[in-house]
Amino acid sequence: MQPRLEAEHLFKVFGRRPDEAVERVRKGADRDDLRGDGTTAAVIDASFRVEEGEIFVVMGLSGSGKSTLLRMLNGLLEPTAGRVLFDGRDLTALTDRELRKLRSERISMVFQHFALFPHRSVRDNAAYGLEVQGVPRAERERRADEALALCGLAGWEKAWPDELSGGMQQRVGLARALATDADLLLMDESFSALDPLIRRDMQDQLLELQKTLRKTIVFITHDLNEAMRLGDRIAVMRDGRIVQTGTAEDILLRPANDYVASFIQDVDRSRVLTAAAVMDTEPRGDEADCGCETAAPDTPFTELCALSARLTHPVAVLDAGRTLVGVVPRQRLVGVLGDEHGEATACDRDGGKVTGRA
Ligand SMILES: Nc1ncnc2c1ncn2[C@@H]1O[C@H](COP(=O)(O)OP(=O)(O)OP(=O)(O)O)[C@@H](O)[C@H]1O
Ligand SMILES: [Mg+2]
Repeated sequence: MQPRLEAEHLFKVFGRRPDEAVERVRKGADRDDLRGDGTTAAVIDASFRVEEGEIFVVMGLSGSGKSTLLRMLNGLLEPTAGRVLFDGRDLTALTDRELRKLRSERISMVFQHFALFPHRSVRDNAAYGLEVQGVPRAERERRADEALALCGLAGWEKAWPDELSGGMQQRVGLARALATDADLLLMDESFSALDPLIRRDMQDQLLELQKTLRKTIVFITHDLNEAMRLGDRIAVMRDGRIVQTGTAEDILLRPANDYVASFIQDVDRSRVLTAAAVMDTEPRGDEADCGCETAAPDTPFTELCALSARLTHPVAVLDAGRTLVGVVPRQRLVGVLGDEHGEATACDRDGGKVTGRA
């Protein structure tokens, strides 16, 4: 199946003679080598595919190149090298007019500090993208109200932005993005300015909305816990490069290098992992026959611990057809929660050689 969005060997270099800089980076130069000439390699050789309905998170520290990458995805920035394909169409091959049309109808952006128009009602703010598209007033108000309701703002349509809290204003931003019915949402640190509780609330709301809306979302964050909660897959960026792409479980259990390993040290594993990620897939078989409680592949880690505490033998993991697909011995739970990657999972890599952190 064709992915909704595809980045192919994207480079973005700011400064003098960018093409030359790309050549140097291709030959192995890194950011620091270029910096001396006043040139910044903001994004280096980034490739990934985002499927329809997927939340793809780009995670990295400040300056790692996340926003630059995102701006290339909707054609606001032209790549120095490489291509962006949206539904198979190369963005750089589009005319300005085609690109503007694509951006106004198919792609929406939500920023960290969402700038609402202060002299427009909440409804007119949410309807802004539709107004730009020339949608008649009655229809755009109906669609704006629907989007506001989805974002938990029913009843606030006529309010002014300054009557809303920061979290509510951010919801208006999200409603504006949803109102246009764009297929692709690009979210740049959209929740980062919010208080922790409100932020979590917004994450929940996005996940809830996503169950029915099935948008394709690229979500930028510097917060690994947020990345793990939201991302179907996560790309970790460092100094312009994507150093690992994978599911939250891949990244937690099989960090690609010491950099990623040091990043995940503080992640609450118990909130991310499920039975499928930690089970031993070569069970003996007798654990499932005792008539005891069992787990499913998607049983959360915390529940698994509670279950394990009630049983005297490993927890059996059964699939939807009640077939035994794995077992979880208690020591595996302890190993995963500790600083170890869990022996079986660490051995999956590199033909059994454990290459964990330094
Ligand atoms: N227009 C520009 N001109 C020159 N350099 C730029 C420009 N935009 C970004 N950069 C540089 O490119 C690098 C990546 O910046 P970018 O904004 O993409 O990082 P980021 O990961 O989004 O960071 P943050 O988390 O702080 O938002 C930085 O070194 C930045 O200074
Ligand atoms: Mg940024």
